[in-house]
Amino acid sequence: MELVETEFIMAGLETPPWEIPGAQFGYVETGRQALALLADELASDGHRTLLAPDYLCDTMISPFVTRGWSVTGYRMTSALDIDHSDLLAHAHAQVGPFTVLLGLYFGREPDNAYRALVDELHHIGARVIDDETHRVLRPRNSGADFAIGSLRKTLPLADGAYVRSFGNQDFSIGPVRPDSRRWAAMDEKRRYLDGELKEKTFKTLFREANTELEADDLARAIGARTREGIGHLDYEQLRKSRVSNALVLDAELERLHITRLNPPGPTLIPSHLVISVDNAAAVQHRMAEMGVYCPIHWPRSELLTDLGSWPSTYLSLPVDHRYDATDMLRIAFSLVEATS
Ligand SMILES: Cc1ncc(COP(=O)(O)O)c(C=O)c1O
Repeated sequence: MELVETEFIMAGLETPPWEIPGAQFGYVETGRQALALLADELASDGHRTLLAPDYLCDTMISPFVTRGWSVTGYRMTSALDIDHSDLLAHAHAQVGPFTVLLGLYFGREPDNAYRALVDELHHIGARVIDDETHRVLRPRNSGADFAIGSLRKTLPLADGAYVRSFGNQDFSIGPVRPDSRRWAAMDEKRRYLDGELKEKTFKTLFREANTELEADDLARAIGARTREGIGHLDYEQLRKSRVSNALVLDAELERLHITRLNPPGPTLIPSHLVISVDNAAAVQHRMAEMGVYCPIHWPRSELLTDLGSWPSTYLSLPVDHRYDATDMLRIAFSLVEATS
């Protein structure tokens, strides 16, 4: 992602939506580092077993796997929602201490059923981590013991993730290192988009900076520029532009009879608008040739064992603040071209 226009920056200090009063926060460079902190914290209480969604990004479980935890997948539905009864059946089958990693994907927010699930898991004896990465613009507290959110997936920040808890944890976070080279890559992308640079050198910079950032999961404090960004982003403006983009694209896809997994609504600010198409990878490739870049969440897990088939039909259409209504119509147009 490149830097944002000034309309998304506030002069005064803003409280980020995930900073719930009364909670404790730690800020680290990546979501993986945040999860690694929790893996260590929970291991000190004797936890070594994790129940995690069976459709996920491997980064979400790698800190547990590398620390020798046993990780079992619980079922996600074809709409990529948690299958509550499958998760509860797994939870009831546990004998020792165990942790559950929950995640509402693509902007869905906790509802009463989700909060009841968290309560039920507590009742069975689990500690619960809620991954808010896809809903950082309006996370709403689910009652989990811990929450984490990676910020660089949805916000114009080079790095950054939070860990939130209501206990008295003293997270051990290492010293800050020089500002992530991803910031330099973002600056360079901005200059390229503004026509000041002719070459797309930012691509190499992003690649190198990501490799550096993701080389390990040692928790490191965020740098000054990320901290500054978190404190001054105009979250209301970011929410508004995302919702208005999502509404335009959603209406256009409705007109084209293309089903969306996560249409925008009063309790859903889409992180992307997710659709299901035959051979998503081929469609993704054809759309990229037309200059429209859509992520696939996610490639098949290499860390979860006992995996059955892995869906190959989900494609995530971007709706974030970098775009406007015209872009949304272009995305829909290129989708039609790529699928016909
Ligand atoms: C839902 C979710 N949570 C956590 C992470 C990990 O975040 P990070 O890439 O900042 O380590 C990812 C990464 O893709 C993710 O998709």
